[in-house]
Amino acid sequence: MARIELSPNVDNYFERMDWRESTGNLPEFRETLINHYESGKVILLENTPFKIDYDLLNLVTIPEGRRFKKLTDRFFLQPKLYRLADAQAFLATFGINPAFYLKVRREVQSVNAQVREFGKTLFSTYDFLEWDVSWRFTHTGPEDLHLDSFGSNEDFQYVRIFINIDDKPRIWNVSHRLDELTKRYYESGHLGELRDLSGNEFCYKLNLLAFGGMERAGRDGHDRHVVELEQGDVWLCDSRVVSHQIVSGQRLVASHFKVDAGSLRNPNAGIDARVRHLHDLYGPGQAAQAS
Ligand SMILES: [Fe+2]
Repeated sequence: MARIELSPNVDNYFERMDWRESTGNLPEFRETLINHYESGKVILLENTPFKIDYDLLNLVTIPEGRRFKKLTDRFFLQPKLYRLADAQAFLATFGINPAFYLKVRREVQSVNAQVREFGKTLFSTYDFLEWDVSWRFTHTGPEDLHLDSFGSNEDFQYVRIFINIDDKPRIWNVSHRLDELTKRYYESGHLGELRDLSGNEFCYKLNLLAFGGMERAGRDGHDRHVVELEQGDVWLCDSRVVSHQIVSGQRLVASHFKVDAGSLRNPNAGIDARVRHLHDLYGPGQAAQAS
């Protein structure tokens, strides 16, 4: 079970939910969970139905290197062995052991299907556009504190479900959320000048302003909660809204399901609408009232 060391100087935005309480009560459970997710909470979801062969997955170690940090399931299902780096990594991971490879391949397929099915069950009202699941087997961290921003500047939402599959805990720090950071930096960082940017670009710029890059790692000056996630712990978090930092961790499965923002329960929860609202709140003429 996840252990949290709360900082008194950062909002407590954690919600613990127990999947067993959805029995006979799924619509209400789902509504509560979606409300928490859309309001930028970190949800620690206990007693989830996943069946995962952790022992098998912990036998998998992929060579370190940026290229293999986040893998799609294609690395396992359709490896590109005609590429030298991929062929070398594949050989280093599985050796000349087709039985081992086939077992891992089956497990990856099974977990992918379970994560997708679970996402569909929890967020059944969402209009899903893509069903990406990423796999991490290399060491991650220590990272600097950051808000995620994604490649696309279009107004998509993402469902992020994370599972620590590693036999060691994943240490994860989280700090102020997008709304608090915007409030803190609106005037000094001239954020009003970013009004025409997409929500995703706004996150990118705000991230640089608030945290800098790796050159300011550990010297960003922000307080943070420390979260220790054990093997099998499942959590959900909108990583563009909650600033975070992996201190250490290795094997992880994470969903990155793309959703049409128009299908969210709260129409103002999409990243563009959320950032527009923050400009309205803290922009010219509003700052005095907001502070
Ligand atoms: Fe991140």
